[in-house]
Parts: sequence; C-alpha cells; structure tokens
Amino acid sequence: MPKRLDILVCSGAACISNDSTTIKNRLQAVLKEHNLEDEVAIVETGCMGPCELGPVMLVYPDGVFYIRVKESDVEEIVKEHIIRGRPVKRLQWTTPEARRIVEEKKQIPFFEKQLKIVLSNCGKIDPENIEEYIAVGGYEALAKVLTEMTPEQVIEEMINSGLRGRGGAGFPTGLKWKVTRESPGDEKFVVCNGDEGDPGAFMDRAILEGDPHSVIEGMAIAAYAIGAKQGYVYVRAEYPLAIKRLEKAIQQARKYGLLGNNIFETSFSFDIEIRIGAGAFVCGEETALIASIEGKRGQPRPKPPFPAQKGLWGKPTLINNVETFANVRHIILNGSKWFASIGTETSKGTKVFALSGKVNNTGLVEVPMGITIKELVFDIGGGIPDNKKFKAVQIGGPSGGCVPADYADTPIDYESLRKLGTIMGSGGVIVLDEDTCMVNLAKFFLDFTVEESCGQCVPCRIGLKHLYDILDRITKGRGKMEDIETLEKLGEEIKRTSLCGLGQSAPNPVLSTLRYFREEYIEHIKDKKCRAGVCQFEEAKEEEVSLEEKLKGIV
Ligand SMILES: Cc1cc2nc3c(=O)[nH]c(=O)nc-3n(C[C@H](O)[C@H](O)[C@H](O)COP(=O)(O)O)c2cc1C
Ligand code: SF4
Ligand code: FES
Repeated sequence: MPKRLDILVCSGAACISNDSTTIKNRLQAVLKEHNLEDEVAIVETGCMGPCELGPVMLVYPDGVFYIRVKESDVEEIVKEHIIRGRPVKRLQWTTPEARRIVEEKKQIPFFEKQLKIVLSNCGKIDPENIEEYIAVGGYEALAKVLTEMTPEQVIEEMINSGLRGRGGAGFPTGLKWKVTRESPGDEKFVVCNGDEGDPGAFMDRAILEGDPHSVIEGMAIAAYAIGAKQGYVYVRAEYPLAIKRLEKAIQQARKYGLLGNNIFETSFSFDIEIRIGAGAFVCGEETALIASIEGKRGQPRPKPPFPAQKGLWGKPTLINNVETFANVRHIILNGSKWFASIGTETSKGTKVFALSGKVNNTGLVEVPMGITIKELVFDIGGGIPDNKKFKAVQIGGPSGGCVPADYADTPIDYESLRKLGTIMGSGGVIVLDEDTCMVNLAKFFLDFTVEESCGQCVPCRIGLKHLYDILDRITKGRGKMEDIETLEKLGEEIKRTSLCGLGQSAPNPVLSTLRYFREEYIEHIKDKKCRAGVCQFEEAKEEEVSLEEKLKGIV
C-alpha cells in the first residue's frame, strides 16, 4: 500500500561516511515509537548530489530537503514535520531563495540547471531493490530491444543518438558497437569500465552505488547488439559499496530472469561477472584492463588491434564506461532523436561531473552538454567561497588541463574543451581560486602520473619524471628560464611518443598552465615569487652542474 510520506535518506558513500546509517536507524526507531511505520516509508537511496552537505534527506512528496542532519535532529523532524506538518527550517538548505527544496520543480539553484538522465534514479530509488527499479521503467528498454528490434536496429539507434563514450576519449558509442558486431569471432564479450582512477572523480562510483541496474541493463542491450553472452564489470577494490550493490543487483536480475538463459523467453542469454581491480590508474586504460581481467599484469599494449577486434582472450570485446552504459536505456526508451536534441552539434546528451575544489556547492552534478563553465561554477556550484577570485577550472583530471577564468563562457563539449588544450575526460572538475599556484598544481598532477606510469615505455617512465623534477626545482626557486622551453619541448615529445593514453596526456596539465599562466612560471624563476603564496623557496643553492660539465676533464 502506498504510504503518506516517503523519507529518502541518502546512502551514497559520502553520506554513509557522515553517519547516514545512524540517522536512518534513529528515524526507524522514532517512527516506530509514534506508530507511524504504516504511514511513512524510509527509502535508502544513492547519492543525491550535494555530498558535502550530507547526510541529506528528502521528504516526499513535500519535497523538503534536509541537510547536515544529526542523530539528535531526528526526533524534531518526526514530531514537527511528519506529525505536525511543519518542516524544520533550520535544517533546510540555507540559500534564501530555496527555503523549500523540491528537486523536480527545480527550486534550488544547485539543481536548477541540472538535467538528470543518467542520475534520474540516483537519490530517488532504493538501489538494492530491483522492484523499485522496475517500477520506474527499469528493464523495459531491454524488453523492447529483445522483442521489437534487431541488433542492427539497436546499433542504428545508438549511432543516431550521437552518444559518445563518457570514459574520456569521447569515441562514438554506436560506431564502436557496430565495429564489434562486425568483427569476426565465435565468441564476444562486453566489458564495463568502472576503474575510475582520476583523483577527485566519483561519477561512476555514484552510478554503481545509486542505480546499478541501469548499468546492467545497458550492458545487456549492448550484448544483444554485438552478439555477446558474457559480460564483465571491472571495479576498483576501493569501491566496496559499489561492489556490494552491484553484486546484489546482479543476483536479483538473475532471480528475475533478466540475466541468464533465454531472457524474456527469447533466445538471448547473457550474464555478468564482477572483476575487482587493485587500484592502478593505468588499469583503466582499456588494453591494460583486458590484461588485468585475463589475470595478467595490467599493462597497456599497442593499438591496433583494438579491443573491438581483439580483446579479452583475443576475442572481439566491447568496452564502455559506466556512464556510457547508463545512458543506453534512456536512448532506447525515448528514442535517438530525443537524445540528439540535448546538447550541442557534436556532443549530445548530458555529462555527469564531480565538482570539487574552491566552490561553494561541491558534489555530483549532471548537466546538458554545452552548458558554460561559468554556469557550472557559479549557477550550480554557487560561486567561490570567501569572496575569493575565480581563477580557473581543471577539467579532465591528470589527463586534462586548466581553463582560465577568461574563458568561463566556453561551452562544455568535447570540441570546445579540446580547442583550449584540455579534454572532457571522465568528469572531474576542480575549481581553483586566486590562492592556487598553477605551477604547483601542474606538479601535483605530474607527481600522480609519475607514480602511476606502468614504466613500460621510456618517454613516459623517464620523460615524466624529468618534467616533474624541473617543476619541483621551479617551485623551490631553483628554476632557470631555459626550463620553460624544455618543459614545452619535452612535454610535446612525451605526448607524441608514449605508448598509451597515460603518457600521451600526462603533460597536459603542464602545457596548459604554461599556455595560460606562463607569467607565474616566470615569476617563480626570475623573482622567486609565488603570487599564491604556496611555494616555499629555498635559499639559493650551489649552481646545478650538468653531467657533461662534471665529466669535463675526467673523460
Ligand atoms: C590511463 C588511462 C586511464 C583510463 N581510465 C579509465 C577509467 O577509469 N574509466 C573509463 O571508463 N575509461 C578509462 N580510460 C579510457 C578507456 O581506455 C576507454 O577508452 C574507455 O573505457 C572506453 O569507454 P567509452 O567509449 O564508453 O568512454 C582510461 C584511459 C587511460 C589512457
Ligand atoms: S605511456 Fe606510460 S603508462 Fe602507458 S604504456 Fe607507456 S609507460 Fe606505461
Ligand atoms: S552521497 Fe549523499 S549527497 Fe552524495
């Protein structure tokens, strides 16, 4: 029987780490004390978005959104709001214009410019209950393709939608499906890439935690389209909640006959297994990921052959990102035309971003492609805290670059970002204010890629370390003007000659900061000055002597 009220308690990883489970248990107990169990339902959901304000809670259908709820607040919420109908104002979002927060009616600025397609179920349904997913149209898209469409029609629909891979490179998804279908092979595989190694990124984790069935459904549709019977989801071990919910979802889907043999009583059979990664960034690269699933060391190999031709155990393999798969059911149900009507000429649909750094509202957001950086930072993100000046955004994590505030009107789409020397990447966005030193920021990302390089090829293994050492010198006041040219030349050379995407993109943070914030490098070198006050300059040390000079007179 439907209840009078639903209390949605966010059980995404961030809210759980802020003790949302205690809030839920207390809520259960207080509702019981007041005999309200039959009237009020508690639903534990995936991430609702504003993680930093957690634990968050949404009372439905009132639409009252509570933030930073404590165990001691629960009694008051039940007595005042649930029994007397008077929402507890002090616990609501503090933005003056959003006293009453209704996500669907978009009354709150954080949600206003968002368009939730991939995240439409995240924060609304219980991800551990397949019936809640089915109740909101779950598995209807799979039923539709299996009973009404040929694999070729499914691929055609995906091509027409214009969906591009959300894992970083933006390759057209339908085309990848077509190539995999057309690759000769008696056995084919579908792989979902949930490695998500970019520092600060948690989009895929949130989807797997908040709506795992949407990924399973997308994979099953892809398997039907390419002719696969077996799928694998590769998730990093640091995501235990995502793994737990995915495991549960797979079991439930099997129980309901939505995975396994003769799905919907058709001849189509498909099943999924989880493979857990040990947390190496390079294992997100598709050929390294394949090697890792095969039980080998996770190292990239040269392409071609591409996984679509020769992937897992040498068989044609379709690899897509978590978010890419989560888009599929919406395209099938609403049509490619609908999907293609969202976004820009070349970038269709929406993109999920993990918004972090010096911005008021951090968290998980989903926006239509083409929204500007300014809208993302100021309208959704609520601007920069403490009246500081907006300096730049770092988009695309360690493979991406910085876009300075002067370009804030740039639309977020694959091409516009590329023109500025960065990439969409998987969706990490770090907002930077005037207190960020751009040289130090480039050094931070280089430090990460040096650590994560698999060491297989020289430009990446040695070249990146050399770039890092130069940056380290500059941030310590020991840089030379020639270093700037070396950084640029070496960076370009590493990009050109590295074997995989890690080395091919790792110099981007250095090159983009040099492009837009060159004067900061010069100040560090010439004036021993860090305008952000981050770098600590050492006393001038003995002039560094090159190896050639040291060997003069010896050899
Ligand atoms: C170093 C490196 C790390 C990567 N990490 C990921 C990742 O964590 N998740 C992901 O989906 N793609 C990652 N990729 C991209 C994958 O190689 C591949 O392009 C992607 O999974 C394809 O899916 P898509 O077409 O749906 O984007 C990474 C690439 C490189 C070079
Ligand atoms: S570019 Fe770097 S990560 Fe990629 S194969 Fe070469 S050494 Fe390994
Ligand atoms: S985990 Fe609760 S709002 Fe993101």
